Amino acid sequence: MKCSSITTWGAWALAGVLAVAACGAQSSIAQQRQKQADLEAKKKAWPWMNTSLSPDERADLVLKEMTLDEKILLLHGNGMAHAGIWQMPLTKESNGGAGYIAPIDRLGIPGINMSDAAYGVRSSGENGRYSTALPSNLGAAASWDRKAAYEYGALIGRELRAQGYNMTLGGGVNLTREPRNGRTFEYLGEDPVLAGTLVGQLMTGEQAQHVIGDIKHYAINDQETGRNIVNAMISKRAMRETDLLAFQIGIRDAHPGAVMCSYNRINGDYACENDYLLHEVLKTDFHFPGFVLSDWGGTHSTVKASHAGLDNEEPMADFFGPALKKAVDDGQVSVTEIDDHAHRMLRSYFADGVMDDPVEKSVVDVERDLDVAQHIEEGSIVLLRNQDNILPLESAKIHSVALIGAHADVGMLSGGGSAQVDPPGGNAIMPPGKGGTHWQEHIWFPTSPLKQIRLAMPGTKVEYNSGEDKSAAADLAKQSDIAIVFVQQWTSEGMDLPTLTLPDDQNALVEAVAQANPHTIVVLETGTVALMPWADKVEGIVEAWYSGSRGATALANILTGAVNPSGKTAETFPLSDKDLPHLTIPALPKRDRGQGASAVNAGVDARSTYSVQYDEGLKVGYKWYDAEHKNVLFPFGFGLSYTTFTYSGLTVTPGETTTATFTITNTGKRTGAEVAEVYAALPASTGEPPKRLVGFEKVMLAPGESREVTIKIDPLYLSVYNEATGKMEVSGGDYTLFVGGSSQALPLTQHFGFGHGA
Ligand code: BGC
Repeated sequence: MKCSSITTWGAWALAGVLAVAACGAQSSIAQQRQKQADLEAKKKAWPWMNTSLSPDERADLVLKEMTLDEKILLLHGNGMAHAGIWQMPLTKESNGGAGYIAPIDRLGIPGINMSDAAYGVRSSGENGRYSTALPSNLGAAASWDRKAAYEYGALIGRELRAQGYNMTLGGGVNLTREPRNGRTFEYLGEDPVLAGTLVGQLMTGEQAQHVIGDIKHYAINDQETGRNIVNAMISKRAMRETDLLAFQIGIRDAHPGAVMCSYNRINGDYACENDYLLHEVLKTDFHFPGFVLSDWGGTHSTVKASHAGLDNEEPMADFFGPALKKAVDDGQVSVTEIDDHAHRMLRSYFADGVMDDPVEKSVVDVERDLDVAQHIEEGSIVLLRNQDNILPLESAKIHSVALIGAHADVGMLSGGGSAQVDPPGGNAIMPPGKGGTHWQEHIWFPTSPLKQIRLAMPGTKVEYNSGEDKSAAADLAKQSDIAIVFVQQWTSEGMDLPTLTLPDDQNALVEAVAQANPHTIVVLETGTVALMPWADKVEGIVEAWYSGSRGATALANILTGAVNPSGKTAETFPLSDKDLPHLTIPALPKRDRGQGASAVNAGVDARSTYSVQYDEGLKVGYKWYDAEHKNVLFPFGFGLSYTTFTYSGLTVTPGETTTATFTITNTGKRTGAEVAEVYAALPASTGEPPKRLVGFEKVMLAPGESREVTIKIDPLYLSVYNEATGKMEVSGGDYTLFVGGSSQALPLTQHFGFGHGA
């Protein structure tokens, strides 16, 4: 049968439809064959398409053919789709993402279409597409699960490609130095070894789908207030052992194609023209071979930025377009330097597969990805309190449950800003069809706890009260066997929280409900940690984070015990704002403030003196509370299970790679996963905080089962930055290793040592 675009009408209509379908299949096979043939032809014509050569060799071969203008085309963006500002002639040719680098057809170099993709692919609403929302990155970090992090990235990579993108702008790994940072939910917590390891897995998963991976925001972009101007003051040692260590581990493990430099200044220089950060640390010490792109509008100069190691300006060409060409013509920037920038770009195109495996749009595998999102959330929810084993809820024994607050009848919260994923079906708290997904709109995913808990508890009466009227909520709680109060804290890029206290009088709501019903459980939907003055007045506390597209199903499975919780905090829950390293985030001077809501997004002013002193230095997260002897509400690495575990028999073998071997036993009645955590105390002479995480492993154990676990400790994780030599070094002296199930429950201890000069 020949393929034709005309179908027969009448009795032949069905046959016609089938014929068209068959023709569609044939034509796509024909297209595939044609593509293959084209690729083969290209390979013959272009030596750089020889896949047996290394990415560096291939990049050099293309580079030899390129004109200066073509090289410069690679070094800047072409505007940002859907943005009022930042438009350029080629913006409309992009795929609708945040950034677009032009193709060079003559040489078979594809355009690079970038999309934000922190917890899913951004802008699917505006582009008429579909994206799955995973749990927030901080939530997923609480899984402490390398495999889950890989799956997280692989899902994002698949959905990016299906939507026509070949580069992600995800991979956020700024450490939670300041828990009130509005972007905390986009990052992976307060510890560099945990965050670096997980971001490495996430980006490995992304890049396995042949999209260029990106790690951001390099570096010390640890608050949003004044992010475009703030000067973060911090010692080299503190940087190298905290925030930069997370980047170092992620880059070492995943080899991402790109690093995004951040908006802020560090010790005086903007990140995107900071020679120390880009040239000395990233490109020299970390041997990063890929390219550095600026955060959006984060480029401030041509010559200085180029010399310092910025390779690509996004999203415009204000400094790295004609101005860069002129700088070359004037002899201010050498052609060798341009070649280095262009080589780094091309190298990543080859290394990450975007040259050999061009993107083709396709249908997202929605069901598969929803299952992945649910599974990751199930491993990320943290059971913080379970007095008298109130959880799991046993449907057969419970007649009635009151659900209260936080729109738990219709949806669950997500984080805003450039990370925002558009909810399929729209914002759950708006009438269908109303409301877009604007920069800082509060988006509730239509995943309904009420519906899912009802499904999971057949035979139990589950009723909802909005919590707006506290006494009505308390009345419903009083009449019910169990009360579950949902509380929330919305956070976003472009803002910081003034306090970790829950907003909207929600603490009073919890108190009122807890007073009415002793069997009260609180479920938190937060982007960072929260203060809980009522913690010992409720029987259960469950942190669900921003839970993603299938959050409610995952939550219902945890609450009813279909899934045994196994998440552990990646960030310490303090008792009070007063216990944080800084009482408040310093306010922006009036003259630096932008208009209205953009106050934290102040315009760039070279004369600004706004700075933050990160004088807590090495003491980030639990290291601060440990060193300062401050009690906390829930420590780093803490989370309960419906079963129990014991630890025994620690042996430490010091060496080039020190190993720790110990046994974990499931002493309870349920199968469950335990995260084993290994911490080290360094010799007193190093002046380090009391302990640091040096290894972890999540193991699944059946009731009564024991498993011997061996953890290899990377020497980097035992190292201290030596300001004199500029290197991370293992010091000689006495060490202690601690092993257990949270940073404050470490039953196994073993001393070991290294000779001096180790
Ligand atoms: C954010 C980046 C983001 C970029 C593009 C910036 O405002 O800081 O994280 O990738 O915009 O949307």
